[in-house]
Amino acid sequence: MPKIVFLPHEKLCPEGMVVEAKKGETILDVALANGINIEHACEKSCACTTCHCIIREGFDSLEPSDELEDDMLDKAWGLEPESRLSCQAHVDDEDLTVEIPKYTINLASEQH
Ligand code: FES
Repeated sequence: MPKIVFLPHEKLCPEGMVVEAKKGETILDVALANGINIEHACEKSCACTTCHCIIREGFDSLEPSDELEDDMLDKAWGLEPESRLSCQAHVDDEDLTVEIPKYTINLASEQH
């Protein structure tokens, strides 16, 4: 089974975590099942950016993002070339290393 390494995130998983995933699960669902409460404001329907993650390793093993996901990602806080919406990215055979950005658009806008 592929593993997902979640890098430490101040609030959501301060120590980081290594978890097992099943092929076909979304990164978001794997995180939630392991108590890492990544925001998912639109309930996983590719209509927000709060579930944005950066795939530090294993990015190429994922199915490429579609146009709708890319459009949403353009609005994400801290966008990087290896950014994905974790509710849309399905785990394949390879291990992944995932960084949860420090802010989401919701949080970032609250602080200004
Ligand atoms: S939860 Fe809104 S796009 Fe993933």
